[in-house]
Formats: sequence, C-alpha cells, structure tokens
Amino acid sequence: MSLTDVLSRIDQDLPAATDRLLELLRIPSISTDRAFKADCDAAADWLVADLNGLGVTTEKRPTPGHPMVVGHLDGPGPHLLFYGHYDVQPVDPLDLWDRDPFDPEVQDTPTGRVIRGRGSADDKGQLMTFIEACRAWKAVHGSLPCKLTFFLEGEEESGSPSLVPFMREHADELKTDLALICDTGLFASRVPAITTMLRGLLGEEITITGPSKDLHSGMYGGIAINPVRVLARIIASLHDDAGRVTVPGFYDGVSELPDDLRAQWQGLAFDHARFLNDVGLSHPAGEVDRTPLEMIWSRPTCEVNGIIGGYTGDGFKTVLPSKASAKISFRLVGSQDPLAIREAFRKMVTDMLPPDCSVAFSGHGASEAGVFETTNPAFEAARAALSDEWPDPAAYIGCGGSIPIAGHFQNLLGTTPMLIGFGKDDDQIHSPNEKYDMESFHKGIRSWARILDALTRA
Ligand code: BES
Ligand code: ZN
Repeated sequence: MSLTDVLSRIDQDLPAATDRLLELLRIPSISTDRAFKADCDAAADWLVADLNGLGVTTEKRPTPGHPMVVGHLDGPGPHLLFYGHYDVQPVDPLDLWDRDPFDPEVQDTPTGRVIRGRGSADDKGQLMTFIEACRAWKAVHGSLPCKLTFFLEGEEESGSPSLVPFMREHADELKTDLALICDTGLFASRVPAITTMLRGLLGEEITITGPSKDLHSGMYGGIAINPVRVLARIIASLHDDAGRVTVPGFYDGVSELPDDLRAQWQGLAFDHARFLNDVGLSHPAGEVDRTPLEMIWSRPTCEVNGIIGGYTGDGFKTVLPSKASAKISFRLVGSQDPLAIREAFRKMVTDMLPPDCSVAFSGHGASEAGVFETTNPAFEAARAALSDEWPDPAAYIGCGGSIPIAGHFQNLLGTTPMLIGFGKDDDQIHSPNEKYDMESFHKGIRSWARILDALTRA
C-alpha cells in the first residue's frame, strides 16, 4: 500500500467527504453571539462523533466559553497535533447573501466548483481537509501513520478567551513534536504556502456618553455636546496624513523588514493591482512609503470595524444622541506589546474628551504577532510535499490575519507551529457569500495525505 492508494481513495471519496462537510456547515456555530451557544455545542458534538468513528479517542472538554474538542490516537513517532476551529463569524448583513448562510450547497461558478456557506473556508472546510486525509489513510492502511492529537477550538472568531487557561492547564497533554494549523491560505489564490508570520490583534470598544438621554436636535442642537461628533473627531485623529497610527508609542517594537525577507517577498511578484481590483479598488491606501506586501504582512494597522450611534433606521430622525460607540482593532507586528498599546490608546481617547463627556472601554482580545521558525526539517519536507500536489512550488509567506494559538503553541508549550491552509483571496471569509473552492478542499485533503507521508516516512 502506498501514498498513491491513499490519494486515489481521497479522489473516490470526495463526494462523501463533501456531504460530511455540508452537514457540519449546516450547524450555525457562531461563537460571538450567545444565541448560538447550543449550536456551538452541537458542532463540537459532531466532531467528537466523527473523530471517535475514526478511532481517535475524542472528548468535548468544557471551558467557561465554548467547548474544546480534544482527541488522541496512539501510534509511532512523530507526535503531531492538528488544530482547526469549528466556530464561525456572524452572518450579517444577511440581505447580501444569495442564500441562507447555513443551508450550504455545491455550486458551479464561472471560476469553478465551490462550496458556498458560512464557515466553508474559515474554518470548517479547512479543518475537514485534515480529518478527511486521516480517514482515507485509515481506509487504505487500517491505521494512521503516527501518534496524533486533535485540538479543535470553538472560540477562535471571538478572541479565544478560554484558550490560554486551557492550554496552561493541559500543557502536558497538548505538547507535541509539531502543531499543524489549517486556518490560512494559498499565496495569491494559486501558490501553495506555509505561513511563517502572523499579525497580532488588539480589539477595543469605546462608548462615549454625553447628554443623559437622547435629545431633540432642534431644541438642543448647538448648545449640547454630540457624542457622535466627539467619536468622529477621535477616530479621525488615529492616523496622520502619511497613514501612520498616532497612538503614542504605537511603533515601539516594530522593526524594518530584514533584507533577506524583503528579497524573498520581492521574488513572490505580488500583483497588488489585481488584489485590489478584485474588491473594486485601485489605490493602496495604507502608509505612504510602504510596499503592498509590507502593508498587509509586516506593518501594524488601526482599523475601525464598526460605528454605532444615533438614528440609523429608515427615513430620518432629528435626534442628538446620548451615546456613540465604535469597535476598533489594531493589527500588530514584531514585538509590539498589545497591553501597552491598549493603555496608550485609552489614555489618548480619555485625554481628547471634552467637558460633559465620559468614555467606557471594553477590550476584545489582545494577542501578539508571531514569527515562526522554519529550521525544523519538517518544514522542507512539508514544502516538498505541497510542491508535489500543486502546479507551483510552495512558498514561505506572511499573513495579515491573526491566529492567536500559533504564538501560544510556541510560547506556552514550546511546540513549533506549522501553518498550512488552502483558502483563496476571494473566499469572502467573514463576509456574505463565503465559499471554499472544491479545488481547495480536494487538493487540501491530498496535500495533508502527502504531508503526513513526508513527515512520518522513516
Ligand atoms: N482564518 C482566519 C485568519 C486568516 C485571515 C488567515 C486571513 C488567512 C487570511 C482566522 O479565523 C481569523 O479570522 N482570525 C481573526 C482573529 C480573531 C481574534 C477574531 C482575525 O484575524 O480577524
Ligand atoms: Zn479561521
């Protein structure tokens, strides 16, 4: 029995694997919204049952938030851990979806066959690529090639509040030779990739209160302070004209890209015009003196993710609101300290408040950036395996997104994380009409089979 048999088995089983993924996608496991708590539990139960069916001893493990799914299978070395997340982002704005986000289907589109539905790419489809590779391996060989631990999280999209305590408490159980994380993408939708840099993330919500109640803007407009205007001024002051973030000390710990990495990224020939064109844009709008790949992979940012205040319903209402709030996130790089930035940001906002206004802050996660070592020979082995599966050789890339657990594997457990995923830039993750290409799913499963083979061949 050889790798070729496992790959053929994957090809034959693709329709059944797709049906299994569709079943998981029907569970609306939105972690950030309490109304979906039972659904998060149901998604965890589904995975527990599926992994137990594969012979992996798996349990749903409680946390103060959503449960972790942890499974173990004994076998010869090396001991590999696989991480993915079963929670998904909220679906709003629902009216921009072409179908019910939790009634997924396979669709033929002009650019190929896709699996459409919330979580198809982030991260249920990706998570299932590894499980399906194991299923095919087991069907062909009767057992899996090495000792495996599965660690599936249900809070990744809501800042992973239970993750660090859980990892600390179960450090011995989760320490392995290598942690495989499937939650990233291909390079430029085409080239297989191992992601070696992730940005960190700091989430802040601010609520500004002025008058004690909503007021008539004719009776009070002019004399009363308007919290929406105060908020707008604060938000406008967060960047200077060169696109740099103005929070004091924000750039402490941000270094220039080393020459070798700059040269490597230049070799990737990133087509930023196309990247922007795909989303209806044409001009890079970040810091004026930075290259496009730097802007998304190695420079820190401050973005406003949402503003709430005043009357936003149909028609018009002449109100002077009592409160206004905003959700603001910072992507972090290098050794920027999320907690120091939180403090500096809160002080900056507080210092800008006019008389009669107060501010309340609430934090939504704070994770550092990660840069991951690739000296372990497993990296070159995995890179060769990926290059065998895809038309282009695999690249080492950065990623603008955040996957806090990658840093925790490195810092809390001393386990090297290896990030490999098959998402494409146009998957619309976190947006309406999210999809995962059938090619990503199929070749993703085949890629993991090749990687498992490469990492466990004596
Ligand atoms: N899978 C994404 C990370 C990602 C984004 C990878 C883009 C590749 C390209 C992950 O699930 C995610 O969205 N993470 C959140 C982090 C969080 C703490 C809410 C993010 O980056 O916003
Ligand atoms: Zn994800």
